[in-house]
Amino acid sequence: MPFRERFLWVCSNRRADDNPRGSCAAKGSEALIEELKRASRTAGQGARVRIMASSCIDHCEHGITAAVMPDGVLLGQLTADDIPALVRGLETAGGVLAESSLAPRQLTAENTSPEALARLRRG
Ligand code: FES
Repeated sequence: MPFRERFLWVCSNRRADDNPRGSCAAKGSEALIEELKRASRTAGQGARVRIMASSCIDHCEHGITAAVMPDGVLLGQLTADDIPALVRGLETAGGVLAESSLAPRQLTAENTSPEALARLRRG
């Protein structure tokens, strides 16, 4: 087995459609994971980068969420439009946050606080 340099876990948790927490699968994460895997392989990352489905990352309000390791970065609000930036960002340590479209999607203690969530819900 190759030793992977970087891992991307994308939440594929699914809840019932009427669950108030929602879920990343209901927002399209399963298709996103498959597209990401294809794009990563096409970019020649197969031996260096591993993209996997994960269970709930517990930031459901910000889904689709993902964790980049070993960078220790959590991302939210991902869509298929983010695939090129994610693949580029997975090339290097810290690369995901160097992508201008992804850096603002980083989930932190500050932007996921109860106050931030209240602002999010108010729109
Ligand atoms: S359902 Fe994806 S973070 Fe909880």
